[in-house]
Amino acid sequence: MKADILLGLQWGDEGKGKIVDVLAPDYDIVARFQGGPNAGHTLEFDGHKHVLRSIPSGVFAKGAITNIIGNGVVLDPVLFRKEAAELEADGVDLHSILKLSKKAHLILPTHRLLDAAGEAAMGKGKIGTTGKGIGPTYTDKISRHGVRTGDILADNFEEIYHATRDAHFRMLENMGAPVDRAAFELAETEWLEALDYLRSFELTDTEHYVNRSLNDGKSILCEGAQGTMLDIDFGSYPFVTSSNTVAAGACTGLGLAPNRIGRVYGIFKAYCTRVGSGPFPTELFDATGEEIRSIGHEYGAVTGRERRCGWLDLVALRYAVMINGATHLIMMKSDVLDTFENIKVCTAYRLPDGTVTEDFPFCVGRNAAGVADVEPIYESLPGWLTDISAARREEELPQAFRDYVAYIEKKVGVPVAILSVGPDREETIIR
Ligand code: GDP
Ligand code: IMO
Ligand code: MG
Repeated sequence: MKADILLGLQWGDEGKGKIVDVLAPDYDIVARFQGGPNAGHTLEFDGHKHVLRSIPSGVFAKGAITNIIGNGVVLDPVLFRKEAAELEADGVDLHSILKLSKKAHLILPTHRLLDAAGEAAMGKGKIGTTGKGIGPTYTDKISRHGVRTGDILADNFEEIYHATRDAHFRMLENMGAPVDRAAFELAETEWLEALDYLRSFELTDTEHYVNRSLNDGKSILCEGAQGTMLDIDFGSYPFVTSSNTVAAGACTGLGLAPNRIGRVYGIFKAYCTRVGSGPFPTELFDATGEEIRSIGHEYGAVTGRERRCGWLDLVALRYAVMINGATHLIMMKSDVLDTFENIKVCTAYRLPDGTVTEDFPFCVGRNAAGVADVEPIYESLPGWLTDISAARREEELPQAFRDYVAYIEKKVGVPVAILSVGPDREETIIR
């Protein structure tokens, strides 16, 4: 068997959680491969809404599905405990369906302090992170100072933890970021207690488990977090997250060789959103942007921040499809555009020197102010002016909407396999 991947093609929040939940019953295993509690994946069914951060979106699927938190993920024990406890209160027997990689790195309380201090030091040029300690934790991983989940089982864990924490204190001091010791001690106590809860789960070498499972004919869906335009290598650097959100990240984040990968589901909204700082070429600053935000409820699932909204950017989308080798597209939140008479789509960028390109250029994201230094060139398509949220079959969709989908497929060169017309599990059309 091959492992399939589902990942975001834009700046995150495309609706990954919803679709992983929809597809999960077709799989034996759902595995998160990168990111951490910076993610907020929303699932809706039976009139209830659930937001998952570190735990895979396969936990609600009926059937014996195993969920995995892979080595590429960074885990905050306190947030994990809170999220897990909520799921268990909802009747999910998490202990029997979740495995965690011993190689996943831990977010320490001091990582959060370093995240905040780093942002404060950058002032106006800040990234606008989620404040969850993501960047500093991945920085420690790469600089070989990280603390891993498996370390909490070691006899000398306290020694490892204290050495790392104290190094962080020295860094904070050098940054001129004073630590409120009393508040820190409370946070540390909570963190250490949460480790006991973490120890009650199966911490294992998940790379062996996923490979053995594929050998045994089991199927795996790898769930991405964030989106391609937030990838550390290919996103709008430096306004990105600190992990590889692209398909290759599933290989390193789970221990899957490239020849183990089957389908790559690339998910995108019928328009674009971005939360945090950084260039966003098709961003709308007018009433249309407001309208998209209001109809689409575009507020962050983790931080509650307003999401910046704009038209669909085919330059960025084609780039994302290329980097990920997307084999199937999934278009989300189509219903949000129901009332728009004309729908614009960006097909090319005009660069500062006046040349026009359809290839996503290096200069997007380079300037320190985080403003896009390209001018989007648009085509306008007729809106469908119909409420499509009740549609469950393709035939029920208006022609103008189907034309919009066909236009995107032609421009991007990959078929749209799934259309989402509302937040609920049921509001999904599989073509
Ligand atoms: P993720 O991070 O990629 O899982 O996406 P988020 O959960 O952060 O954001 C997607 C938001 O859109 C959530 O509030 C979903 O409930 C909602 N949503 C998902 N699909 C649709 C859709 O097709 N239509 C509408 N109106 N909302 C949707
Ligand atoms: P999901 O999985 C949208 C953004 C932050 C910030 C940048 C870096 O729900 O799609 P970080 O805390 O990762 O260091 O922040 O990345 N960001 C997201 N934006 N959706 C997410 O996750 C995000 N995770 C991080 O807003 O701009
Ligand atoms: Mg989200």
